[in-house]
Amino acid sequence: FSSPPLSLCFQLLFPSDDECADMDWDNLGFGLVPTDYMYSMKCSDYRKFEQGQLSRYGKIELSPSAGVLNYGQASCCLMYLFIFEGLFEGLKAYRKEDGQLILFRPDQNAIRMDIGAKRMCMPCPSIDQFIDAVKQTALANKRWVPPPGKGSLYIRPLLMGSGAILGLAPAPEYTFLVFASPVGNYFKEGLAPLNLYVEDEFHRATPGGAGGVKTISNYAPVSSFFHTVLKALGRAKNRGFSDVLYLDSVNKRNLEEVSSCNIFIVKGNVISTPATNGTILEGITRKSIIEIARDCGFQVEERAIPVDELVDADEVFSTGTAVVIAPVGSITYGDKRTEYKTGAGSVCGELHSTLVGIQRGIIEDKKGWTVEI
Ligand code: COI
Repeated sequence: FSSPPLSLCFQLLFPSDDECADMDWDNLGFGLVPTDYMYSMKCSDYRKFEQGQLSRYGKIELSPSAGVLNYGQASCCLMYLFIFEGLFEGLKAYRKEDGQLILFRPDQNAIRMDIGAKRMCMPCPSIDQFIDAVKQTALANKRWVPPPGKGSLYIRPLLMGSGAILGLAPAPEYTFLVFASPVGNYFKEGLAPLNLYVEDEFHRATPGGAGGVKTISNYAPVSSFFHTVLKALGRAKNRGFSDVLYLDSVNKRNLEEVSSCNIFIVKGNVISTPATNGTILEGITRKSIIEIARDCGFQVEERAIPVDELVDADEVFSTGTAVVIAPVGSITYGDKRTEYKTGAGSVCGELHSTLVGIQRGIIEDKKGWTVEI
C-alpha cells in the first residue's frame, strides 16, 4: 500500500473550482489578492518547529512585545545586533496546460531561509518542512493559480520572532507562516523596459551587515544614516523612474542591486553581474540565469562592476522572483542618461524565453529545477 499523492489528498480535503471564476486574470499586477488558506508552524525551544497546519487566511494574533515588532527593524542602527529579525522568502507556483501545478526551485528558498536564519540567530524549519508547507499552501489555494501564461501564484514564507520579550534577548517563540497571492507582472510597465535611477546618496546595505540575506530590514530602514530603501524608491518614482539602482556604500562606485532584484550588464558575449559579497541578495533567479546564460554560450562574470561601465554596456537587465527578468531601457546617473538595446534579438529576450519556458513547464526541465505538485 502506498499513500495517495499529496495533490489528490488536497482535492478531497479542499474541493474547489479549478480556477476562480470571477478573477480578471488578464489584469493581474503585483498587488495582494487574499486567498483561501495560509500555513503556520511554531518553534518554542529554539530548535525544532512543531507540526504545522493550514488555516483559513486571515489576521494573526501577535503580542505587542513580540520580538519582531520590538527589535525586528532596528538591526543596522544597533551596530549589527541581528537577533529577533524577520525573514521572508518568495517563490512561485505555475499552472501547466494540463492543469498540473509546478514550483520553481523551492529547495533553494528553503536553503536561503536557513542561511538567513543562522545569520539572524533564529531557528528555521528544516528543508523538508519548508517545502512541505509551500506545497500545502499552493495546493490548498489551487483555484487561485492563474491559467497558463496569465501569471503565477506568488508564495510568501515568513519567519519571525513571535514570542514576547522586553530585554535584548532571543524571543522565546518563533513563527513560520506561508501565504499566497496570484500575481502578474511586478512592474507597472509590464514587460516594457525599465528606466532606472542610480542612487548615490542612500544605500541598501553595508559590509558586515545583512544585505546578503532576505531580512525584512533590507526593505525598510537599511543604513546607519536612517535613510530608507523605500524613501529612495519613492523619490525615484516621483521623478518618473521605475526603480533605483544602488551603489556600494563604501566607495559609492560599484553596482549593487535594484530595490527588489539583481542587476546584469551585457557587453558583446560577456554578461556580468555584481559578485555577492554579503551586501547583495543571493537571488535564485540570478543563480538560474547565470547557469542558463553559460549553457547558451555566454561568458558570465561575477565581479565588481564600476558604475562607469554602464555607459559602455549594450544591454542591462534585472532578475528576481517577482520580477523574473526585466529589460532595462535606460539608466540615469547624475545628469547622464544611457539607453540600452531591448526587444527582438536581445540577450535578455533569449534568456527570458528559456527561463520562463522552464518555469511554466513548456521547455523540458533538464536541470531538475521544477517540482510538480
Ligand atoms: C521577490 O522577488 O520575490 C521579492 O521578495 C522582492 C519583493 C520586493 C517583491
